[in-house]
Amino acid sequence: MSKKTVLTGITTSGTPHIGNYLGAIKPAIQASEDARYNSFFFLADYHALIKCHDPARVARSSQEIAATWLALGLDTDKATFYRQTDIPDITELTWLLTCMTSKGLMNRSHAYKASVDANRDAGKEDVDDGVTMGLFGYPILMAADILMFSADIIPVGKDQIQHIEMARDIAGRFNHTYEPLFTLPSAQVDESSQLIPGLDGRKMSKSYDNTIPLFCTAHELRKLVNQIVTDTRGPGEPKDPDGSALFQLYSSFATPEQTTEMHQKYLEGIAWSEAKSELFECLDSQLSTPRARYNELMNDLGSVEDILQKGAIKAREKSAPFMEKVRIAAGIRPLTYVPAQSLTDAPVKKEKSAEELARVEQGRRRAIIMQLKPLFDRVTAADDKAEMAKLVLTEKACEVEQLKKKQKQKAQNELDILAEELAQYS
Ligand code: TRP
Repeated sequence: MSKKTVLTGITTSGTPHIGNYLGAIKPAIQASEDARYNSFFFLADYHALIKCHDPARVARSSQEIAATWLALGLDTDKATFYRQTDIPDITELTWLLTCMTSKGLMNRSHAYKASVDANRDAGKEDVDDGVTMGLFGYPILMAADILMFSADIIPVGKDQIQHIEMARDIAGRFNHTYEPLFTLPSAQVDESSQLIPGLDGRKMSKSYDNTIPLFCTAHELRKLVNQIVTDTRGPGEPKDPDGSALFQLYSSFATPEQTTEMHQKYLEGIAWSEAKSELFECLDSQLSTPRARYNELMNDLGSVEDILQKGAIKAREKSAPFMEKVRIAAGIRPLTYVPAQSLTDAPVKKEKSAEELARVEQGRRRAIIMQLKPLFDRVTAADDKAEMAKLVLTEKACEVEQLKKKQKQKAQNELDILAEELAQYS
């Protein structure tokens, strides 16, 4: 059975908080340890520009979010970890998808509608006031992120479900109009992670300004925990654990045994001050090691950048050839491109001369060589070219092996040409 691909991104417009950790980063890292999945995680920095026009904040957030994933132990040999803007294919795909997206679909986007509603409520004449084309088309950029890597499963919060559905719609239209190149993704929503409350008891979110930064100092962490809302019940009075933000947070970090024990303590009337201090101890004991690692990484951003660059190379090995296929499907082709099957399928009007056939064959070969360019680049960039040539050929041969009949013939042609071109290195 082929592996499923899990993909998720985090917008680089703020400091990672406990809600991001429990809701997105922790489950994603767990999935990346699971051999049944291929995983792609990225910094959605072009998404940040939609809402945040403070360059220092966007840049700082990218550093923090990158360091956070690594500090929490993401294994970048297993997962592909990259920055959206290092993959130009994504923005190229955004345009192709923009041309496959009806405006009406975007009119229905929650993020856009929320702005329109706010303008209407404020009595503004122009309901589109302050809406950029970036905000309006935001779901298309997100669709490109997802479709570029043929992702199957997208772990997201509830607010993002609509965007995954839009990605499916857009992919379906492309597949129908051109060629079925895109995998239709599904959202995966973890209900329990939706319940992470912030300082004021509402869902923890940047937009409510009620977050606890994941790697603030122990001192700040204690201060923030002390600010979490409680009711007015005094020490000794029984408290409702299930209605308490403090208890919810505790149970998200503690073991099931500790949680049951704490549940009991609430019923027995633990003082809020003591409950807070227990929550602080629990958080701090789990966060102190990754916090130290985070601080190290924030002081060594060069090595974080190197990791992102390696991730970008890995991601582009997939995205560049795929983008080429997408472009070709839509008719953006080298002038000499001849579709492989037209040589065999097209009704033969007139016998072609040997010369003509040779010309066509040469054009076809050139087009295939262009498609294979990322592979040739890998070989020419390698120190040991012979070794890399061998590796590239083996990978391609495996790919051919797995294909169905019709696609196999096409891929076999590519393999043959690849082998001929790389023969010089062996
Ligand atoms: N829009 C998402 C958010 O704000 C972040 C994001 C961008 C994303 N591209 C994505 C999430 C692709 C999943 C898949 O949370």
